[in-house]
Amino acid sequence: MDAKTTSRYREIYAQWQRDPEGFWAEAAKEIDWFEPAAKVFDPGQGIYGRWFTGALCNTCWNALDRHVAADRGDQAALIYDSPVTGITASYSYSEMLYEVATLAAVLADFGVKKGDRVILYMPMVPEAVFAMLACARIGAVHSVVFGGFAAKELAKRIDDARPRLILSASCGIEPGRIVKYKPLLDEAITLSDFKPEACLILQRPQERAAMNEGRDHDWAGLRDAAMADRKLADCVPVLATDPLYILYTSGTTGLPKGVVRDNGGHMVALKWSMENLYGVKPGEIWWCASDIGWVVGHSYIVYAPLLHGATSVMYEGKPVGTPDAGAFWRVVSQHKAVALFTAPTAFRAIKKEDPDAKLLSKYDLSTFRTLFLAGERADPPTVQWAEEKLNVPVVDHWWQTETGWCIAGNPVGLGMLPVKHGSATVPMPGYEIDIVDESCNKLPAGTIGSIVVKLPLPPGCFPTLWQQDERFRESYTAEFPGYYKTADAGYRDADGYVFVMGRTDDIINVAGHRLSTGGMEEVLASHSDVAECAVIGVNDALKGEVPCGFVVLKAGVTRDHAEIEKEIVALVREKIGPVAAFKLAITVPRLPKTRSGKILRGTMKKIADGEQWTMPATIDDPVILDEIGTALKGKGVGG
Ligand code: COA
Ligand code: AMP
Repeated sequence: MDAKTTSRYREIYAQWQRDPEGFWAEAAKEIDWFEPAAKVFDPGQGIYGRWFTGALCNTCWNALDRHVAADRGDQAALIYDSPVTGITASYSYSEMLYEVATLAAVLADFGVKKGDRVILYMPMVPEAVFAMLACARIGAVHSVVFGGFAAKELAKRIDDARPRLILSASCGIEPGRIVKYKPLLDEAITLSDFKPEACLILQRPQERAAMNEGRDHDWAGLRDAAMADRKLADCVPVLATDPLYILYTSGTTGLPKGVVRDNGGHMVALKWSMENLYGVKPGEIWWCASDIGWVVGHSYIVYAPLLHGATSVMYEGKPVGTPDAGAFWRVVSQHKAVALFTAPTAFRAIKKEDPDAKLLSKYDLSTFRTLFLAGERADPPTVQWAEEKLNVPVVDHWWQTETGWCIAGNPVGLGMLPVKHGSATVPMPGYEIDIVDESCNKLPAGTIGSIVVKLPLPPGCFPTLWQQDERFRESYTAEFPGYYKTADAGYRDADGYVFVMGRTDDIINVAGHRLSTGGMEEVLASHSDVAECAVIGVNDALKGEVPCGFVVLKAGVTRDHAEIEKEIVALVREKIGPVAAFKLAITVPRLPKTRSGKILRGTMKKIADGEQWTMPATIDDPVILDEIGTALKGKGVGG
């Protein structure tokens, strides 16, 4: 690490190491508590201990009410910018509070109370943010399901979360097509064993959904009626350790993991991060170009900027095609954003369309200070391109749905450390990272191994999986005792910089979206002509990785292979959703396996990516790998 750096990082990290509880107790002073914590950290509660036990608080209060009380009421809380509908709208903190307290009253009228779950299956519209905060206001637990997931995935989440209500909209809007949400919602409720009591449907002008008599209710009608009756719900005090939300993320099987976020630790960590990691001040304009269906959207479109009293830009559009590769520059310039947080894939898309960034010259980006990238590995050429074109620091930082905020990053607010391309920089306070081998021995600098985090995890990280403590233990703490297993592989260099290289499990990262190849294999295997299958992630210049499925057909299947492959592609879209970006199924005579019957997915990936590979000593029949290579020819993958 550069000795000349003026960053306060080392001092702050050391301060945390010396006294973790004191560090977080100090950070907690930035939050309003109805009752202070009995203990900053109680190692006796939960699986690895719990933060701020005994404290009473409300996340919505801290995101809205207290800012209005502190004279921030007229400041914009949310700017909605939607090139797909042509709408731009701004909501002040006071207006937001009014919308949220009204919607919270509507939810309460349906009997929703503290601890009840509410599923949100929503496009990127302000009402989705109002709904998240309305749940937080009354202590209900929201679970947002990304709009690109199909009915079956939604049904799995309904069965697991058992929501009293589902909030949805008539449609989402993708470039060139309207995605009708309501038929997907109806199908999901038909498929699920658990049935919600009611659904609130936001009718968008682009598509009017048919309503189910008795079950479905018109969102706008209920809002207007509640406003006419002056119904407003107050904040309900909840324990800091009570759940704020459940967010499902891909596990190694088709059954998603319900990551639980609590109220107190989450607020403390996110508030700390806005100033110290992102270097943003209250009152400044911040833009996170993700989707509220992902953790990045939860934390940095909704909660962190609002807890901080900043203005959050919510963007319903794409980096390219809405209308062009200058869209991001337009939004930054129009709303005077000081920082943008997005996934590297978005920048790869822009770079592909406008390699010289000619469209930049149309916009004034003088307010813009920093670009933050996360969600997947930030490839050095993309980082370099962004640095050159934007002439601002580009900060890669690494985190996961489970952690809810950054594990390793470059703390802009504390003073930036020198950037090393390919590295997410250094651990944030709260995270002690080790690189270990399979036997949990620490590895020296420069050696790749499993990245693990010493328990306890800091505030903001998940305390457990929804009603699945045992799955939490098995998935995250069993393999490396005393540590949280990130399931990412990487190394640290001599300066302590962390390099995150990829997953150690069967999760792949497609355009910054985390997907399970195991889940896709379950779908492929359900096709009536498929005997066995394997799905791997292959390199893709735009999306980082894309899935590629290999299928062995049942003996006696004489149908055209191309037709079956097309059906398989359609089946994944139908069962998992378009977000899987599953476009390639390849029929092969057999799959390469070890003598004990394990499919050699790693070697298949190397072949597909055109990388060097060695013949595994345990292979059953080496010829099969040649067959895989032959089958991939002309498919335009990898390399
Ligand atoms: N509802 C319904 N469908 C959706 C959807 C939504 N909310 N979001 C995406 N989809 C669909 C897309 O239309 C696409 O469908 P198609 O197969 O018919 O083209 C499919 O899901 C795959 O979407 P995506 O992976 O986003 O690819 P894309 O080609 O539409 O766009 C990028 C490529 C790079 C522009 C885009 O992936 C992007 O902006 N990524 C940023 C990722 C991000 O923000 N990640 C969050 C973590 S920070
Ligand atoms: P998600 O839970 O969807 O946020 O995905 C988390 C996974 O994305 C991590 O486990 C990593 O594999 C990957 N990831 C996220 N950010 C980075 C990063 N900055 N560098 C490398 N990989 C990343």
